[in-house]
Amino acid sequence: MEFHNYINGKWVKGRNTFQTINPANEEVLAEIAQAEISDVDAAVNAATEAFKSWRLVPAPLRGEILYKVADLLKQKKEELAQLLTRDMGKVIAEARGDVQEAIDMAYYMGGEGRRLLGYTAPVEMPNKFGMAVRDPAGVVGLITPWNFPIAVPSWKIFPALVAGNTIIWKPSPETPAISAAFVKVFEEAGLPGGVFNLLLAPGADVAKALVNHPGVRVLSFTGSTTTGRAIAESAARFNKKVSLEMGGKNAIIVLEDANVDLVTEATLWAAFGTSGQRCTAASRLIVQKGIASKVKESLTERTKKLRLGNGLDPKVEVGPVINKVAIDRIHHYVQIGQQEGARLLTGGKIASDSSDIIRLSASKSATGFFYTPTLFDSVQPGSTLEAEEIFGPVLSIIEVDSLEEAIEVNNRSQYGLSTSIFTQDVNQAFTAMRDIFSGLVYINHGTTGAEIQFPFGGIRGTGNGHREAGQAALEVFTEWKSIYVDYSGKLQRAQIDNREE
Ligand code: UN1
Repeated sequence: MEFHNYINGKWVKGRNTFQTINPANEEVLAEIAQAEISDVDAAVNAATEAFKSWRLVPAPLRGEILYKVADLLKQKKEELAQLLTRDMGKVIAEARGDVQEAIDMAYYMGGEGRRLLGYTAPVEMPNKFGMAVRDPAGVVGLITPWNFPIAVPSWKIFPALVAGNTIIWKPSPETPAISAAFVKVFEEAGLPGGVFNLLLAPGADVAKALVNHPGVRVLSFTGSTTTGRAIAESAARFNKKVSLEMGGKNAIIVLEDANVDLVTEATLWAAFGTSGQRCTAASRLIVQKGIASKVKESLTERTKKLRLGNGLDPKVEVGPVINKVAIDRIHHYVQIGQQEGARLLTGGKIASDSSDIIRLSASKSATGFFYTPTLFDSVQPGSTLEAEEIFGPVLSIIEVDSLEEAIEVNNRSQYGLSTSIFTQDVNQAFTAMRDIFSGLVYINHGTTGAEIQFPFGGIRGTGNGHREAGQAALEVFTEWKSIYVDYSGKLQRAQIDNREE
């Protein structure tokens, strides 16, 4: 397979190419055209030119193109899900969910084509009218990660398009194949050339050039906190609007009255789904002492049975992690955990033994980047294991005496994305809803599984005050324009001519 960059409505080959690897078997999946810095200029020029007409296409018609994209995504859901699994490893059911999230977002934002609500308000002078409308921000740069190669970009692409912006998208070099296949759907839906441009490249140079390009007005980034901060610093020099969605150290709080079976299933899904590589993945289980031994026993037993393997096999529950660097980082954290005195309940190893891994019959070789789902208990608040984002299948169990202590441990984190609590007590649940400081709170559900109609994002080290999805997404991709129409035919000075004194 071969994929190219998409600039000004044309698929463009590069001077050089790079490869994308299937993390389940380390086979080369596709050869990818490598964008150069000069392509950033070409893409920004194309987007700038296309903006002139795209912003004037009536928003309901822009929305209709989004509906067309949604329809095509529905038709191609299985094909895209299969490619997505081969490009980044997540199990096929999750890959279908990834595509579905894009379908949901496309329909939701398609509907915005007939809303994009502004407002009017009374003004203080007679024969004068005031209104606030949303203008598109202009050319926007989107930089996205590999863990949700279709869903996360969709949170940015669809609101940006319906609001009348034009786009340059730089996805992760780990998932170029599925990214290009996604862009093809927009082409097929009839999106005009130049409105949506795709740049594929390894390394940081192309993304940096995009961040530093004066023609780009908004940057929306999902990825690590370190990179996000660097983007915000560079972008500040041009007064760009920057929306950042970064790290997490999400917690599930379990109170004594919780249902252990539900906690077990929900925790496995939240901690080990996508091999723990979600920004919303649960990586801390903060459990009240009275129920801790039951929860640990049940979790350990079920974790040991999780089926690891190639995500295309529907029996597989946990796929590979993204690459060798990820395996090494995860294993390094496991070793630190042990040095810090945490106790390994299960997992903690790089899985290479064929008996651990379900492989597809076509590839029996002992390759792929698999890490065994890992549980630690006796994890101390403030330890490295408790504090740092690992982005892999590692869950740390912390025991506490009370709800108050659990919330304190949660809120002390440098990150603030998603927190969940299991309890049957409505009073405790409402106290938790009020006192948990996180962007997302779940009651009797794990930390993952956000839906697209609500704002998504976090506080502290996770975000910079913006939200994706829902109506909040429009704030990132539009600028307010306040318009005053004076039809009195004379000079009326606001704040002055309507006073007696
Ligand atoms: C992410 O991990 O970056 O709420 C996004 C969820 C998914 C999206 C996760 N709907 O877990």
